[in-house]
Amino acid sequence: MSSRSDDDQSTNELRGRRAFLGAVTAGVGLAATGVAPVQAGSPPVQFPGDRMTFGGGGSAAGAVNRSEVDLFDCEVDGHLPDDLDGAFFRVGPDPQYPKSDKYARDIVFDGEGHVSMFRISGGHVDYKTRYARTQRWKAQHAARRSLFGMYRNPTTDDPSVAGLSRGTANTQLFYHHGKLLVYKEDSPPVAMDPLTLATTDDYYTFGGGFKSLTHTAHPKIDPLTGEYISFGYEAKGLASDDIYIFSTDKHGTVNWETWIKAPYAGMIHDFAVTQKHIAFFVIPMATNVERIRAGAVHFAYDSTLPSYMGVVRRGGDGKDIRWFTGQQLMCTHVMGAWSDGEMVYVDMDGGEANQFPFFPNLYEPFDFQKAAGRVRRFKMNLANKRSKSYEVETLYPEVTGALARQDDRFHTLPYRYGFLNLFGPAGGGWAMFDHQKKLAKVFAPGADVNLAEATFVPRNSAAGEGDGYLIGVADHKSENGRSDLILVDTQHIDAGPIARVKMPYRVVGQVHGFWVPAAQLPQMPV
Ligand SMILES: [Fe+2]
Repeated sequence: MSSRSDDDQSTNELRGRRAFLGAVTAGVGLAATGVAPVQAGSPPVQFPGDRMTFGGGGSAAGAVNRSEVDLFDCEVDGHLPDDLDGAFFRVGPDPQYPKSDKYARDIVFDGEGHVSMFRISGGHVDYKTRYARTQRWKAQHAARRSLFGMYRNPTTDDPSVAGLSRGTANTQLFYHHGKLLVYKEDSPPVAMDPLTLATTDDYYTFGGGFKSLTHTAHPKIDPLTGEYISFGYEAKGLASDDIYIFSTDKHGTVNWETWIKAPYAGMIHDFAVTQKHIAFFVIPMATNVERIRAGAVHFAYDSTLPSYMGVVRRGGDGKDIRWFTGQQLMCTHVMGAWSDGEMVYVDMDGGEANQFPFFPNLYEPFDFQKAAGRVRRFKMNLANKRSKSYEVETLYPEVTGALARQDDRFHTLPYRYGFLNLFGPAGGGWAMFDHQKKLAKVFAPGADVNLAEATFVPRNSAAGEGDGYLIGVADHKSENGRSDLILVDTQHIDAGPIARVKMPYRVVGQVHGFWVPAAQLPQMPV
């Protein structure tokens, strides 16, 4: 448990929300849920005046929106390329109801997942948002109040929801085998229709072939085979050290699975997939059943634990797993990864200590300097059978940020270009790295703007790696948070946006986003 006082913890949690979220955003079937209908005379929810006390996301996240929107033909300033045709999907936490007073300051990542889509075609943009109808959303909708307690701690829930999935589907989404899959790493995906955003399955198991209780928010797609490769950690239950790894063919049928054991039950937010290998970075953001039984938040940062990179062969039985350790780091997102013979390279963003102030440190105060994220290149030599250490190199040490991405068409392959969200007192930015030239170029919109994650959009289906646009949401502090969707040309990233979709309000918050070319989407009914 934390050695800090409650006041210290509360203060740090608030500071942490502001710092981190500056980067991150800057007909219900009762029978299906098994939840009794709301009793006549149930008191209306007392909505808090202080939006920071909403629990599971507050005004700091720009996330208390609660309104599902259809906005046809948005205002466009500048010129959207005529041949840009596709959908930009994004998701983030948007609390459906404020939590009870006891959990009013729960972490920002426990709000219900609100999915939005910017459908871009012929210079026009239509905007649509829908909540993911998770089991949790449906139960709370029926009861007209919050029923779930603290982030990833079911001992804090209302007894009426025992046995329901706690998944919020608020972290990331992917489009594969015709389904928009929406993720929270504590639960299986939720499937949505990619055109209507109607939820089609609140507990998606890939036709029953998926065996884990959890599924990462960061699967990968092999561009050479169309396979979907993914995993779940704490896969056999809360605080378990089990990792489930699986892949599906391009039709979503599970074609490989295996189980491995982690060194301890630590967070594994993302993972790396190459053509030959899969790698997991286990960080000292750890949990155990005692924490959960005590009603604490799921994770705490235990600086006495090593960080480990585990490497396993793709398609194998998992018995070849090797765990490498070295400099203790907290890395969350993978920028890119590849294998060169028996060498495995994994690029991640990360800091030298806890990066999430909303999860307590067990032994020391939160250190904002050490929390700064930089691009770290891990190298594991599988040819050396005795090696138990990874090498790690810090790339572009002058550039700090989070939410690393790449041209997603280069998942599993050697890659040249990476992207990172930058943040700081002078305002945020998007960086584009050219690893071949060891150069970083930056788009910096100034201190008035909070930028959400950058997602890469290929210029067209024949475009080379990194040739296209960065797309994402920019919120303007001076305009009460009003949002633009902006498009930046990667050939001239420092020139700023070539087009802005001017939204009349602040759009729902975002953790991650995903671009789908129109050619991959179902045809819109006429
Ligand atoms: Fe993530």
